Amino acid sequence: MDYISIHTMQKKKKNTNKKFNKSNIKTNTELLKEIIRVDHAGEYGATRIYDGQIAIFGKNSKIGNTIKHMADQEQEHIDKFNELILEYRVRPTALLPLWNVAGFALGASTALLGEKAAMACTVAVEKVIGEHYDEQLNLLNDDQKELKKTISKFRDDELEHHDIGIEHDAENAPGYKIMSKIIELGCKTAIAISKKV
Ligand SMILES: [Fe+2]
Ligand SMILES: [Fe+2]
Repeated sequence: MDYISIHTMQKKKKNTNKKFNKSNIKTNTELLKEIIRVDHAGEYGATRIYDGQIAIFGKNSKIGNTIKHMADQEQEHIDKFNELILEYRVRPTALLPLWNVAGFALGASTALLGEKAAMACTVAVEKVIGEHYDEQLNLLNDDQKELKKTISKFRDDELEHHDIGIEHDAENAPGYKIMSKIIELGCKTAIAISKKV
């Protein structure tokens, strides 16, 4: 009996702490700005990757059409972060010109290697971005409910893109494993830099 009541009390205390952590603490302003800066940069880079792939395949090919669906969603994402960057008064990353060129080059070069390689690029990029958005959802407190809703919708879109890549045989691209590792590392590095610079 004693054991049960102590156990219940501890449980209650834990729940209260949890509630306190999530709803009563304001998200740190610097963290918030980093989140918006890096997401704006990432979504911009994503539009450029798909631009590069569409430039090679053309919009009217079957694969081009599939990529266009993902590119349209990336356009919605960047439009939203263009709004948020103004609303939250966040300085965009100074490296946008670099992500412009690097994103396009990554998209075009993987497309030149073939459809499976282009899809392998999508799988690698979207895997990193999906995980990145999940991390952010854990970092944001409930004072940022709207932003969390936006990020969680975008995270679902990115995971859909990831799955489209898998469905299109990405894993059978020549050199899939090494290419994935290089692209994943590149994305993680770009994320780390774009938070601060
Ligand atoms: Fe996106
Ligand atoms: Fe995406």
